[in-house]
Amino acid sequence: MAKILAVGNAVLDRVIHVASYPLENTEHRCLGMSERLGGNSVNSLAVLAQMHHDVSWCGTLAKDHASKTLGSLLEKAQIDYSHVEYHKQGTTPISTILLAQDTGSRTISHFRDLPELSFEHFAQLSIEDYDWLHFEGRNTQALAGMLNIARCFLTDQPISLEVEKDREGIDDLIGKATVIMFSQSFALGRGYTQAEKFLRAMQDLAPNAKLFCGWGETGAYAMEADQLYQIVATPDLTVIDTLGAGDTFNAGIIDALIREHSTAEALSLAVTLAEKKIAQHGMNNLFSNDHRTVIANMNKITAHKVSVVEANGQSIVLARVGDNLKAYINNCPHANVPLNSMYKVEIDPRELTLKCSVHDAFFRVEDGFCVRGPCQNQALTAVPIVIDAQGRVFLT
Ligand code: FRU
Repeated sequence: MAKILAVGNAVLDRVIHVASYPLENTEHRCLGMSERLGGNSVNSLAVLAQMHHDVSWCGTLAKDHASKTLGSLLEKAQIDYSHVEYHKQGTTPISTILLAQDTGSRTISHFRDLPELSFEHFAQLSIEDYDWLHFEGRNTQALAGMLNIARCFLTDQPISLEVEKDREGIDDLIGKATVIMFSQSFALGRGYTQAEKFLRAMQDLAPNAKLFCGWGETGAYAMEADQLYQIVATPDLTVIDTLGAGDTFNAGIIDALIREHSTAEALSLAVTLAEKKIAQHGMNNLFSNDHRTVIANMNKITAHKVSVVEANGQSIVLARVGDNLKAYINNCPHANVPLNSMYKVEIDPRELTLKCSVHDAFFRVEDGFCVRGPCQNQALTAVPIVIDAQGRVFLT
């Protein structure tokens, strides 16, 4: 286990799950919505925490309601954020993200007006307490100072830099890091269509660094001391969710190098990890053998009350009668609207039905069959679930 400090932005990701990417100027119903922890370095830390590293994040937080949500998401991901700089001006950075179910692509619309971490705040941290420092390549003026201090005060600890976007002054930062993760879009933006030529050019800026670069569906490349390494991506990979795949790749590199793997091995391990992430929803439970999604806990579900949960991009209603729990897609077959569109859904305790709040269709809790109302003889779509001994409710 290593102590890792990452500097960058924490973002509240509002993910809108859509069947496919919508056409401009159209209206559609989305499959579901979820709120996730976001921001490149924070995402990487969330993965590193799952690999049992002791991780801290330093950046700025706003003083608004959304930052409380962000704080609880950071805690849940076991990321220490006790060193953050708070700002009264500006709001929590928010990304609204369309995640398309058919391709797994993510389209990010990012808003931020929050100032970034100041050099003065960073300078007060005891950076020598950490085994690894990681920086997002942004906020270049202040970052140049931070990297200078890191180079001055740290002797053995690696300093990694993520270079995702081209920004004024970024070339000066590249020479100050010892491990650098480039994005393919940065390389393409610089006019390189071949990873090898790009990495050779970057090596002129940082001759002693280990350089890595993801190359989309082709795989990924690394370069160290004139030696080029390539890992070809798995063909026909099932793509579920690409949000944070690059950040997971970066976490894979950091973890592998901490565990003293070679550059070639680190590249291979990082690609495997990123592919694992791409094949699942979100970034949680990356290392658990139990890949089922927990959607609720029986002990917290009151009998005769309907709970609505979001899971894997879908809204699901849970109806409990005694020790029996039924789960259905939160969609009325009559008008294709969520059952709770108008007000909350309740169970009739005598008839054991639940009622759609829009046009009063009554569905049997037992099998979702509509016994009365506008969609008689139709049924809710059942969601298969299992409940374990601790009362955890899983999607199967
Ligand atoms: C993914 C991500 C999101 C965030 C956005 C910030 O790499 O970090 O979590 O909203 O990029 O640019």
